[in-house]
Amino acid sequence: MKLLVTDLDGVEHSVDAMLNWTVMEIIRDGDLPMRAECGGSCACATCHVYVDPDWAAKLPAMEREERDTLDGGFEIEANSRLACQLVMTTELDGLRVTLTKDCAG
Ligand code: FES
Repeated sequence: MKLLVTDLDGVEHSVDAMLNWTVMEIIRDGDLPMRAECGGSCACATCHVYVDPDWAAKLPAMEREERDTLDGGFEIEANSRLACQLVMTTELDGLRVTLTKDCAG
């Protein structure tokens, strides 16, 4: 499975995606910028990514905890998500996300 990650320079990277890993872990394992300071505990917003609008509807809805933490991020958009709260499934093979200043800062 693949995860397609666009960096802050607009360059797209194809990263190997492991089943049941979070998108945050996959990006970090792919040696792309991912601060993820709280280690995936939904407490820091430094794993903030933008999800390609074509994929947004395929993701599980945000829990209240994710929404509250995301409020601490910069330049939040309608397609903003916390990468540590997105778990890779076979349905998400080819998911496209874009890094933000939060995770790359
Ligand atoms: S890693 Fe901290 S909220 Fe995702």
